[in-house]
Amino acid sequence: MSFPSINPTKTQAWKQLEQFAKSPKKLQDLFAQEPSRAAEYSILWEEFFVDFSKNHIDADTLKALFALAKEVKLDDARKAYFGGAVINQTENRSVLHTALRASKKTSIRVDDQNVVPEVYAVRQQIKEFCSRIIDGSQTSATGQAFTDVVNIGIGGSDLGPAMITEALGYYKNHLNVHFISNVDGDHVMEVLKKLTPATTLFVVVSKTFTTQETLSNATTAKKWLTAALGDTAVAKHFVAVSTNLTAIKSFGIEPENVFPMNDWVGGRFSLWSAVGLSIALAVGPDHFEALLDGARQMDNHFAQAPLEENIPVVLALLTVWYTTFLGAQSEAIIPYTQYLHQLPAYLQQGIMESNGKSVDRNGKAVTYQTGNIVWGAPGTNAQHAFFQLMHQGTKLIPAHFIGFAQSLHGNKEHHDKLMANFFAQTEALMSGKTEAQVREELSAKGLSGDSLEKLVPFKIFTGNKPTTTLLIEKLTPKTLGALVAMYEHKIFVEGVVWNIFSYDQWGVELGKQLASVILDEMDASSSVKHDSSTTQLLARYKS
Ligand code: F6P
Repeated sequence: MSFPSINPTKTQAWKQLEQFAKSPKKLQDLFAQEPSRAAEYSILWEEFFVDFSKNHIDADTLKALFALAKEVKLDDARKAYFGGAVINQTENRSVLHTALRASKKTSIRVDDQNVVPEVYAVRQQIKEFCSRIIDGSQTSATGQAFTDVVNIGIGGSDLGPAMITEALGYYKNHLNVHFISNVDGDHVMEVLKKLTPATTLFVVVSKTFTTQETLSNATTAKKWLTAALGDTAVAKHFVAVSTNLTAIKSFGIEPENVFPMNDWVGGRFSLWSAVGLSIALAVGPDHFEALLDGARQMDNHFAQAPLEENIPVVLALLTVWYTTFLGAQSEAIIPYTQYLHQLPAYLQQGIMESNGKSVDRNGKAVTYQTGNIVWGAPGTNAQHAFFQLMHQGTKLIPAHFIGFAQSLHGNKEHHDKLMANFFAQTEALMSGKTEAQVREELSAKGLSGDSLEKLVPFKIFTGNKPTTTLLIEKLTPKTLGALVAMYEHKIFVEGVVWNIFSYDQWGVELGKQLASVILDEMDASSSVKHDSSTTQLLARYKS
């Protein structure tokens, strides 16, 4: 199973796309010319309806984008990804978050061993543990049932569990789940001050178990617990999720309280593993399994659907088109549900840590734009915050609008209002408002002459702003699993086309190294040589 490494700029399709990018067509014109555009540029899959017709593409662009995917051998790359090939070559690892939700019958081999039975063994361990904590049969050091769970982790060991736990709030049980991530001592203290040691369970999540933030927070939490209940309480109140069993032991967590994970799961793709323990505690193991089922369905879709009907492929190629050929710097993610409040932050790590790379898979600097900036907030709140810039600013911002046909609590009156905004915004962004329309509107309001003329330019909306609409039936564990997996595969496809390694994150190392040097200087009288700005700032902090 080879993982191709093809310079995309040398393909025929790339050259074609460069040509097309020189004469972009207006969305309003495309819609006027193509009566069946909406139907042609949409994909219906399970409970997902993806309308990508409001994008700056026509049949030729789309054809060239699919040709690009073929020329960079996306098909071979996809097989290598699912088959467990070492596609994370700079860390010498397979990338197998898909194995975490594979069906029991599948065989996926790493180092000549099928990893699927081990995945199911850990899933069973999660199931049994969560059931005991939820029904109260596994109790605390004082014999009480746990009421609160605190997930201590950062990055992929925090963002995924936190985002999903909030997203599935409707399906939650009685356990209150909290998240501590930042090394900011005020964060840990703010969370702990609301809790009672006797009924609090800590889940320490760190793939490496060397992360400064997580170890500091876990140590502070341990002190808080033992101050109230004594050292022996740790065995009942702390569990850990990690690949580093030795470090967990030296931290003082009992081996029976350890949930293993594997190095073939990247932190930002790990919520499907035992890293999702807090999710399973919050919503129960059955909902956690449904989340994994949804992801598996999306895996199958991505692995099998032809490129033209393949949701992650189409979305990724659109991102490549905007980022690399049309000069877009960012992509907005606007979920029209408060439950997905943390989705943009979660995707920021997934997308930007993966594809924020400038060296290709041959070790050469790329000559084209790669990973984009991802940002966003839930609608309708976002409309009252940054939509002004999207409608009338100077930036090209392709946006994903994610909405659900059904709300969870009923409340149709609210849902209709929410969804009216959802549909109206993509229409407004695309269609805009012409000068003639503005004049007509202002005259109808009684304005004329100078006072009308002065206002006209400010009231025009050029439109032609691209959006993709994901209309999903209902927010359930299953559809959420599929949605997250969709973005995971989108990241993969982009990395393949850009010919970069999406699964390492060397870019976060330098800051960590320098922080450790500076930390050593905090209490010391001597200091290491820094640039004059850093020296000045440190002197001020220490004084
Ligand atoms: O920020 C770098 C990073 O390695 C992420 O990729 C990861 O999700 C996070 O730190 C936490 O790492 P760990 O789970 O090993 O504590």
